[in-house]
Amino acid sequence: MTKASNASTTSASFEAAIEPQRRQRKRPSLRKLVSRADYVWRQGNRLALYTAHSEVMRRMNKRLQKDLPKTPAPVPEGPVPSQRRMLADIASLFASDLKAVEAGLYPPPRDGRMSLRELVSTSRAFFKDVPDVARRRATGSHQEVFETTDGFADALPRYYQQNFHYQSDGWLSEDSARLYDFQVDVLFSGATAAMRRRALVPFAEIVKRKDQRQIAYADLAFGTGGLLRPALDAFPRLSGIGIDLSEPYLNVAMERIPTRRASFINAMAEKLPFADNSMDVLSCVFLFHELPPKIRRQVVSEIARVLKPGGSFLFVDSLQTGDVPDYDGLLSLFPQLFHEPYYASYLKEDLDQMFKNEGMHRGFFAPAFVSRVAAFVK
Ligand SMILES: C[S@@+](CC[C@H](N)C(=O)[O-])C[C@H]1O[C@@H](n2cnc3c(N)ncnc32)[C@H](O)[C@@H]1O
Repeated sequence: MTKASNASTTSASFEAAIEPQRRQRKRPSLRKLVSRADYVWRQGNRLALYTAHSEVMRRMNKRLQKDLPKTPAPVPEGPVPSQRRMLADIASLFASDLKAVEAGLYPPPRDGRMSLRELVSTSRAFFKDVPDVARRRATGSHQEVFETTDGFADALPRYYQQNFHYQSDGWLSEDSARLYDFQVDVLFSGATAAMRRRALVPFAEIVKRKDQRQIAYADLAFGTGGLLRPALDAFPRLSGIGIDLSEPYLNVAMERIPTRRASFINAMAEKLPFADNSMDVLSCVFLFHELPPKIRRQVVSEIARVLKPGGSFLFVDSLQTGDVPDYDGLLSLFPQLFHEPYYASYLKEDLDQMFKNEGMHRGFFAPAFVSRVAAFVK
């Protein structure tokens, strides 16, 4: 047999061998199609729901502004992506999310399963709050929390006692805790949960190598459990600790994560209640941009202290300047539109260097719509 015919035989048998796979790839099973349709239906509904809320809020704000002091128009420092570009990026985020579900990294998400009653009451509370937020924005009132709370709040750090995003009660009430996730979803068009879930991709890699029951895991500044809950859903033998400085947020999280595998601690990320070298995995979503630079460094140092050698820190937060240059102008608008006192410093922070200084190096990195997702290893 000549070399050429030998090659063509090999190629024919290779073709025959992969044909069943190819057929499989071409025709997804009925089950897969149903689960895809379900995903698209739920995430599509979320996108529509939160985009509609955002549009109604925009109109309300326009009307409200007539009776409020004028504020300077925000000026972007760099390019701002078009609506079409942002929609395409959300679609690509959802596609990656669905791909991870189909690859078995985590189960189909549970977001989008709010009862009608809960949806109506949260939506009402959201719109009721819009005039208060508009008033704070127009008058620059972002210290109400500091000025009006006393007693229990005295023990909290000063930088924390602010109306971040001009939100009512800052982090310090149950009303704020119940509204928070909805407000963030209006801001990010329903894509928030999918951005958080990107952290489950490097997490799934860790879980593959280790018995879930042996993994000591905590989510820092975990809010109402935005990442802890899907992490516990994804890895059914994993236990996890939610850490947050806000007692009301912790209380709402406890209600939302009614499993024995979750525990909750009211503590500061810069003073973690764990022994040196005791944790396998830590995660943290949307905290770093809200910390003064000095505290940010303390948090990184605490993370490095409590992680075991080889332990991982999973990070999700806003994109930084230069991550996706087309978004740089949009990022520069955030601190102009919302009370985000430490965001501008976050945008320029060299996170890789900060972790390197504490003996940690970055492995995984991926932008996800307006977020950056990274894993740092000790
Ligand atoms: C923007 S929210 C993020 C919540 C959640 N991680 C998420 O995925 O949406 C910020 C959270 O960080 C908490 N927080 C802020 N500073 C903190 C600190 N120094 N230590 C612990 N929690 C803190 C707040 O109470 C709030 O729940």
